[in-house]
Amino acid sequence: MQKNKLVIANWKMEFSHKQSIDWLKLYYPELSQLATTQPVELVVCPGFTCLPEFKKYLINTPLQIGAQDCSSYPHGPYTGQVAATSLKELNCHYCIIGHSETHSLTEHIAKKAALLMHNKIVPIACIGETLAEKQAGKTVEILQQQLTPILRAAQESNCTQIIIAYEPVWAIGTGVAPEAYDLKILCHQIKLYCSQFLDADKIRLVYGGSVNSKNCEKWLKIPEIDGFLLGKASLDFQELKKIVVLVSNG
Ligand code: PGA
Repeated sequence: MQKNKLVIANWKMEFSHKQSIDWLKLYYPELSQLATTQPVELVVCPGFTCLPEFKKYLINTPLQIGAQDCSSYPHGPYTGQVAATSLKELNCHYCIIGHSETHSLTEHIAKKAALLMHNKIVPIACIGETLAEKQAGKTVEILQQQLTPILRAAQESNCTQIIIAYEPVWAIGTGVAPEAYDLKILCHQIKLYCSQFLDADKIRLVYGGSVNSKNCEKWLKIPEIDGFLLGKASLDFQELKKIVVLVSNG
């Protein structure tokens, strides 16, 4: 079955709690309408404190809620961490893990993936090389090293759905993004590698890193790309709307 393309809004810590709720109240009717009429799955990932309020507003809409991280432990004395079970109770269908800004250890990312899958939350597992790794010609090796424990965890958890977010560290928040040709080759290699562990219909691959309404069209032509993980561009409603429309037409 052909799945809808994904647009994932990672709000990071850009908005305060109140700013996030005000944004949601203002735009959720139009966003929800957009998600109803366009063949796009729209996921909004606000800060942890906003999740209960998002659950209230979005419960009967096609918009999905995602968290920005979770603990690698199921429960226990882990100050400041948020458990996958709590995210489930707050109606999160998705959770980003391994974002380079969280500086997570690879083995923790695989544990987070397993806990999320156990709670029927779809992991959005970020992978990506640094500029130094890219310049040393190590991109593929690094991506495979990052992917292996995550895909093993997915295999062991009888995963039904996982999203891999390819986010080169050098492209996040920099305005610099890969050439379409290079991205196409890498995405092909990522999907091929993933297929050694999981059936193709269980994996969706999104690209993230300086995506905006001006540059996303050329990447939409890459058949391996199933959508985008947006940072900055997702904070501006008009920009987000343009990208959703482009993705649904692409
Ligand atoms: P950016 O962030 O779109 O602002 O580069 C992407 C991300 O970090 O997920």
